[in-house]
Amino acid sequence: MTQTFAKGGSATAVNVPYFTEEGSVEAVNARMGPDVPPRLADVMAGLIKHLHAFVKDVHLTQEEWEYAIDFLTKTGQICSGERQEFILLSDTLGVSMLVDAINNRRPPGATENTVFGPFHVEGAPERAMGDCISLDGKGERCLYDGRVIDIHGNPVQGARIDVWSDNDEGFYDVQQPGIQPKWNNRGIFVTGADGKYSFVGIKPVSYPIPDDGPVGQMLGHLGRHPYRPAHMHYLVTAPGFQKLVTHTFVGDDPYLESDTVFGVKATLVAPFERTAEGPEPWHSPFDFVLVPE
Ligand code: BEZ
Ligand code: FE
Repeated sequence: MTQTFAKGGSATAVNVPYFTEEGSVEAVNARMGPDVPPRLADVMAGLIKHLHAFVKDVHLTQEEWEYAIDFLTKTGQICSGERQEFILLSDTLGVSMLVDAINNRRPPGATENTVFGPFHVEGAPERAMGDCISLDGKGERCLYDGRVIDIHGNPVQGARIDVWSDNDEGFYDVQQPGIQPKWNNRGIFVTGADGKYSFVGIKPVSYPIPDDGPVGQMLGHLGRHPYRPAHMHYLVTAPGFQKLVTHTFVGDDPYLESDTVFGVKATLVAPFERTAEGPEPWHSPFDFVLVPE
C-alpha cells in the first residue's frame, strides 16, 4: 500500500508507504503478510479499522492514551490463577454477553444462554436427585425442580446438570477457602428417563463482582455499581444437544435491571415461590429446553 503526498513541498506527488492520519488503517493493514490465515486477516483488519475509527472519533489525547495503557497494564498485573480481570472487563463492557448472543442464537422456546462467569469449578461431586448442595447451613433453603426437555417437550435422559451458587453472604466457596466447606453450593445431577431433576439449595443473594481492581475503579468512575442480581448457575450438557450455560434469576431482586455484567434475560427470571408446607420455605420450578447440536 502506498499513499500519495507532495514531497518536500514540491509539486511532485510520489507514492510512499508511510503512515498518515488519513491513511492510518490502510498503512497498518497493508503490512499483513500474504500467508496470514483468512480468518485472522479478517479479524485483525476489522480490529484496526474500528480501533483507529474510535481513536479518531473521540480524538484521543496523549494523556488519555497513557491512562489507557496504565489501566490495561494494571488489569494484566492483577490477573492470577484465581483472578481474571480481563474477563471482568469484557463482562462489564457487555462484550461477553454479545459474543455469547452471537454464538448461541436459539429458536423460540429454547432456554437462553447467559454469561458463564469465573466461579465454575470442574469436578463438582455428582449427587442424588433431591440432595442438598448447601453445606454451610446458612441461608433460606429452596427446592429447585423441573425437567430437561427437547424443543418438542420430550424428556432428555442422561443430561448432566452442573449447578453452583453463592452462599447466603454472597460469596462462592472458591472465594472463601477454609471458611466455606469445599463444594459448598455445588453439585452435578444426572437425569433419568423422565428428564426430571430436583435438588435443594439456598435462595441465592445478590453480590458484587470482585471490585477491588481496575475494573471496580472503572465502574466507580462511570457511576456504576458492581452488583449481580441473585441467581443460580447451570451448565447443562447432554449427548446430541447444544451445551447450555445459563442462570435462573430471583424475580424480586433490586439489581435485576442493572446487572453489572448484563446477564439477565426475561425468560431466565424464574418463579421463587413461598411454600405453605414442607421442609423448604422456597420452591423454584424451571424447565430447561435444549436444542439439538
Ligand atoms: C458470576 O455470575 O458468577 C459472575 C459473572 C461474571 C462476572 C463475575 C461473576
Ligand atoms: Fe454468579
